[in-house]
Amino acid sequence: MAVLILGGGLMGLAIAHRLAVRGTTVRVLSRRRSEAAGFKAAGMLAPHAEGLSGDLLQLGQRSLELVPAWVAAIEADSGLTCGLRPCGIVVPFATAAERDLYPTAAWGEALDRQGLERELPGIGPGWEAGLLFRQDGQIDNRRQLMRALQRACVEQGVHLQEGVDVLELLQDGGRLSGVRVRDAAVGIHVLQANTAVLCSGAWGAQLLPELPIFPVKGQMVSLQGPRDALNRVIFGPGTYLVPREDGLLVVGATSEREAGFSEGLTPFGQRQLQAGLEALLPAASQWPPMERWWGFRPCTPDEAPLLGPGPLDGLYLATGHHRNGVLLAAITAELVGDCVIGTVQPQDEQCLKAFNWRRFAAT
Ligand code: GLY
Repeated sequence: MAVLILGGGLMGLAIAHRLAVRGTTVRVLSRRRSEAAGFKAAGMLAPHAEGLSGDLLQLGQRSLELVPAWVAAIEADSGLTCGLRPCGIVVPFATAAERDLYPTAAWGEALDRQGLERELPGIGPGWEAGLLFRQDGQIDNRRQLMRALQRACVEQGVHLQEGVDVLELLQDGGRLSGVRVRDAAVGIHVLQANTAVLCSGAWGAQLLPELPIFPVKGQMVSLQGPRDALNRVIFGPGTYLVPREDGLLVVGATSEREAGFSEGLTPFGQRQLQAGLEALLPAASQWPPMERWWGFRPCTPDEAPLLGPGPLDGLYLATGHHRNGVLLAAITAELVGDCVIGTVQPQDEQCLKAFNWRRFAAT
C-alpha cells in the first residue's frame, strides 16, 4: 500500500511516521514546511488548562496519555530529543469564584494567592486564585519535536518532498485517483494515488472548499529569561507564558479571526502580548526579546478537528486542530493511521464519528 500525505507539518509527519512504522510506503508533499503550525505553536500539552469540554476534552486527555510513548518512539527512531517537559500548567484568576467556574476545575488543584506565589514566584499582583494542572505540560515543538519527527520519518523510509504545491484532487466516480501538483523541478504534473491524507492545516479549504476550515492568526514573541526563573507554564486570559528548559520564554498568542491569511506582525498584537506579559510576570518585561512570529491556526466552527474519512473514497482528513495541534498530534496519528490501514478499533468508531467532517452538514 502507498499513501500520499498532503502537507508536511506536524500532522503530516506524525501520520507518515505512524504509517511507515507499520510498513506502509509513504510520500509526503509539502509546499513550504516553515509555514506549518507545528513551527509556530507554543507546544502546550494542555487539555485542562485550555478549558476543553465534551468529546474534545476526552480526545485531548487520550492524546496526553499517549504523548510519552509517542515521543519515546520518535526519539528512538531519530536519535534526537523532543524537549518534552511535563512541568504542569497554572491558570490564574482574579477571584476564587472565577476559578471555581472554570470548565475543567474538577481536574485541577485549587490555589489561593499564597499557592500561586509558591508555584509561580514573581506572578503579578492581579491574581488571587489559580488552578494547577500537574498533568498538563509542554514540548519544544519549534526547536526539537519537528526536527526529530522529520528525522524519524526519514529513518523509517518516508519520502519527503518540499516545494510541491498540490493544485487539485482528482477523482474517478467519487474515488480519489490522484493529485495535480506543481513543483519547481517538473512543473505541473499528475501523481496517481488511491489513498491520501489531507494535512494542509489552515489551507485545507483551498483544496476542498466544502471543508469548514478557516485561519485564526496568532502572533507570538519569545524572550530570554534566566534558567529556572519560571518552572511551570502560566496560562492567563489572552496570554500564556511557556518556559523552556534553557530559560527561553515563549509568549503567546493573539487570536485574530478577522485577519484571514494576512501576513506579518501588528503593533496592536504585539502590545497585547506585552500587556499580558506584564500582568502575569512583571519581571519578564525586562528580559530581551529573541524572536517575533505569527502563524495561522486551522479552525472549524466548533473548534474541533476533522479526522478520518473525507469527501472522496480513499481520502482521509487530519486538520482543523485549532489551538490544540501539538497536544492532538499523537492521537491523530493513531486514529487516522488506523483509518488508512483499515485497523480502526471498535471503541474508536464512535470517536471518529464525533470528529467526522460531515457533522456540520447534519446541523
Ligand atoms: N494553544 C495555544 C494557542 O493556540 O495559542
